[in-house]
Amino acid sequence: MNTARTFIRLLGASALCVGFITSALAAGQGDDAALRKAANDYFEVVPSAVPAVKGNPVTHEKVELGKMLFFETRISSSALISCNTCHNLGMGGDDNLETSIGHGWQKGPRNAPTVLNAVFNIAQFWDGRAADLKAQAKGPVQAGVEMASTPDRVVTTLKSMPEYVDRFTKAFPGEKDPVTFDNMAKAIEAFEATLITPASRFDQFLEGNDAILTAQEKEGLALFMDSGCASCHNGVNVGGNGYYPFGVVEKPGSDILPANDKGRFAVTHTADDDYVFRAGPLRNIELTAPYFHTGKVWNLEQAVGIMATSQLGTELDDKSIAAIAAFLRTLTGEEPQIVYPILPVSTESTPRPKEMIANK
Ligand code: HEC
Ligand code: HEC
Repeated sequence: MNTARTFIRLLGASALCVGFITSALAAGQGDDAALRKAANDYFEVVPSAVPAVKGNPVTHEKVELGKMLFFETRISSSALISCNTCHNLGMGGDDNLETSIGHGWQKGPRNAPTVLNAVFNIAQFWDGRAADLKAQAKGPVQAGVEMASTPDRVVTTLKSMPEYVDRFTKAFPGEKDPVTFDNMAKAIEAFEATLITPASRFDQFLEGNDAILTAQEKEGLALFMDSGCASCHNGVNVGGNGYYPFGVVEKPGSDILPANDKGRFAVTHTADDDYVFRAGPLRNIELTAPYFHTGKVWNLEQAVGIMATSQLGTELDDKSIAAIAAFLRTLTGEEPQIVYPILPVSTESTPRPKEMIANK
């Protein structure tokens, strides 16, 4: 500021003019500082280090094994479907389908959320029915519409390949019988804890870089906080940490919110939880269309408009919607670079693939 003042004095500008210019400069910086301060009250940056997982130390051996299991198609009964089928790590950690397709080409009831940053969610699934990633990982393996296998079949499969036995033994040292369904889930959980996306432009703004966001993106961030989106979408994942009715003010159409999926009601069986879902985590949202648990909305601007009317009872104009969507696109972080694992070859005792007949 002193240099600016001196420079303007040298130009012979009046004292009044100097005062005007310096306060204008200060106001510009003050705006960014105030915006950052407000944002830091709502949100947290994605850490660049792998977070600790409760009751499951994240070791190198476990992560490597978990990565193999994430790509392992033979934990599905068809030997065709892996976690990566529906949570494609080259495509934002999801399948970009309305609702997922699993065993026997069956269409599941809900859209697949991304596994990226899932470790930061309060609980897993749209309705939060799995407490953590370990509990979550056991679900799809057994779900008839997903991988259609059983814990026994998985353990038999893994034990049939000496390399897996060796890797489980190293990942779970001191355990007598380390190749278990539970340890499969623990290894996958450890791998998933590494699937974090730090250094988004938004995080760089939170950490002090004013120039990293455009004026439109800053306007979108301000609107996201001022119009009330951030009251449900906050914390490290900009969502994923609380449950709310979908349609607080106005229920969206039955294509987007069909009557038969009552969300969290199926978990808690209390009437208050009718059509209650977890606020969607919005990190990397531009990579994970289509949107909502039904996956009926492909366009981010449209999703923002629906949220404004259904959750806040506000009709946002096109300019505000565009600004909020522009802000949401700054939430894309650095995706983990995954080296595709080489999986052990099947042996004589590896169960053969089951024919893919729906519900079999
Ligand atoms: C056939 C597709 C399919 C397969 C295979 C599949 N998933 Fe999913 N996954 C989904 C769907 C759909 C959901 C959401 C279901 C719901 O909320 O009811 C989901 C939810 C999740 C979530 C919760 C994310 C969140 O934000 O709540 C995680 C984590 C996850 N899956 C990991 C895995 C792992 C690990 C595997 C392999 C063991 C796997 N999935 C296999 C489709 C699949
Ligand atoms: C009262 C809480 C609440 C408010 C306020 C709210 N949301 Fe949501 N948001 C949710 C819930 C719950 C979901 C999950 C809906 C579902 O079941 O599909 C969601 C989902 C979303 C999704 C889709 C996520 C995905 O992965 O498909 C976007 C995008 C979104 N919200 C943006 C916004 C924006 C922008 C605003 C402000 C205009 C906003 N939300 C206001 C609770 C809220």
